[in-house]
Amino acid sequence: MDKMNFAVLASGRGSNLLAIIKAIEAGKIHAQLKVVISDKKEAYALEHARKAGIPALFVDPKDFKDRESFDRTVVKRLQEFKVDFVVLAGYMRLVSIYFIQEYPNRILNIHPSLLPAFRGLHAIREAFDYGAKVTGPTVHIVVEQMDDGPIILQEALAIDPKDSLESLEEKIHQAEHRIYPQAIDLFARGKIKVEGRKVTIL
Ligand code: GRF
Repeated sequence: MDKMNFAVLASGRGSNLLAIIKAIEAGKIHAQLKVVISDKKEAYALEHARKAGIPALFVDPKDFKDRESFDRTVVKRLQEFKVDFVVLAGYMRLVSIYFIQEYPNRILNIHPSLLPAFRGLHAIREAFDYGAKVTGPTVHIVVEQMDDGPIILQEALAIDPKDSLESLEEKIHQAEHRIYPQAIDLFARGKIKVEGRKVTIL
């Protein structure tokens, strides 16, 4: 089977992107990362891509009147790079319905809590402040509702009474760097079957 092509969309420091690049280099992801796109010019993710010799594009939201017109340009770039599926890694924008319809069940995201608990932007802190005993990252398919798509992988981590918010963040990021490359590889090898909310790993 030919390798699938994918893109990573990221807005921030890009530690997940880096883990993905390393996994590709180690032969652990059976797919080609063709392009990294960011909506933030200064995103360190773009730097990680350049260092790895992967095309790194900045698309400026200020050049567009609304979310869909921005996404139309992003999708155009994805098509130019013949991207089969899309990986959001710390991408701080909601994707439009247009984007989702262009890549139905073909956009993955990682969220730093065990969904459906603690959706939204401050998931790690909220789980910590809530006094949850377990938390951990979720990889899911992107649908129109934020943090709501079918779940591919989760890793549950105990919150230790000795944990600080910082130590918990560190643990969650390490788990993200384990499960995201794994989920991407499963997806790229056609091992993921989505039926309604249910994902079966073949
Ligand atoms: C991760 O915690 C991820 O779960 C969330 O955004 C963060 C991105 O981190 N969606 P990084 O930019 O990959 O370091």
